[in-house]
Amino acid sequence: MVFARFNAIFKVVSNLTRKLNIVASNGQYGLGAYPSTRLRRNRGDDFSRRMVAENKLSADDFIWPVFVCEGKNRREPINSMPGVERISVDLIATAAADAKSLGIPAMALFPNTDPAKKTPDAAEALNPDNLVCRASKALKDAHPDMGILCDVALDPYNSDGHDGIVRDGVIINDETVEILCRQAIVQAAAGCNIIGPSDMMDGRIGAIRKALDEESFADVRIMSYAAKYASAYYGPFRDAVGANSALKGDKKTYQMDYANSDEALHEVALDLAEGADMVMVKPGMPYLDIVRRVKDTFRVPTFAYQVSGEYAMLKAAANNGWLDNDKVVLESLTAFKRAGADGILTYLAVEAAKLIQDQP
Ligand code: PBG
Repeated sequence: MVFARFNAIFKVVSNLTRKLNIVASNGQYGLGAYPSTRLRRNRGDDFSRRMVAENKLSADDFIWPVFVCEGKNRREPINSMPGVERISVDLIATAAADAKSLGIPAMALFPNTDPAKKTPDAAEALNPDNLVCRASKALKDAHPDMGILCDVALDPYNSDGHDGIVRDGVIINDETVEILCRQAIVQAAAGCNIIGPSDMMDGRIGAIRKALDEESFADVRIMSYAAKYASAYYGPFRDAVGANSALKGDKKTYQMDYANSDEALHEVALDLAEGADMVMVKPGMPYLDIVRRVKDTFRVPTFAYQVSGEYAMLKAAANNGWLDNDKVVLESLTAFKRAGADGILTYLAVEAAKLIQDQP
């Protein structure tokens, strides 16, 4: 009696589990189960792996950040970014020619400003003849079809090293936004096609959009650094632009707390409402969850920045023989695509584009 009962219960339970299994593997995804289904079949040959690959990296996905310095025919290595150099303005055209021949659509220009030109009001940001404007003009003259992205933020020009104006230790939002609008106009006039506000002040996208429109730069695009985190991965970049020594304190009162994810969606929503054409998540690889959420939620052009610290980690390991450089370069960049990024700002752009070209 007890045994029969136990048997009946056992049957019900095992039927249920079988049904649930079928629902899990068949119902939701329409897939079969082992042994009729063997996922290793498609993985078995190069040809079929290529047939079923869901993402493909191309040079079109890259924006190449380049550091510029004063001087002539000058190349300055950056210790914390092995393989990356600051180049003088006269070398920009050749660098751009290389990028163009590989199919890279755009470059981002970052100036290493002479420390003597840094002031608390960051006035050099508004000089139409400053380093980044000269670089932008030189690039546009030589290669009108190369896209140019310029950061809007005050840190390269600010003796306090901050992205905004500092008063009594506080980064002043609205006053900074007014300066950023003028900076954007100066850069647009120098040929910049994409304004990249990287400062994380509130309300700057709407204000910059309005300012550009009023100055008849309605076609200049805005790629908002929408979800930019206060990150230690920017260290090598600050070496490259010479901002590390100037920076007092940290950027936590304006860049996002890396503990947060919903807040990134809030930032992106605001920037889109204010007129951003494209949004960016930054840093990159440690924040791929944010890239995915942004892409799934908004379905707009979404970019990610593989930042200086990510580059430094990869090169440090590769240069020690601990990682296979070429394989990790391609794997790391494809991960951005898989996470939903439409494009990647990466110091590896030229190197990766060559690797893609050399692939069979
Ligand atoms: C400037 C800016 C930074 C980066 C891009 N624009 C540094 C910062 O905000 O401190 C970082 C890029 C990188 O690390 O590669 N606002």
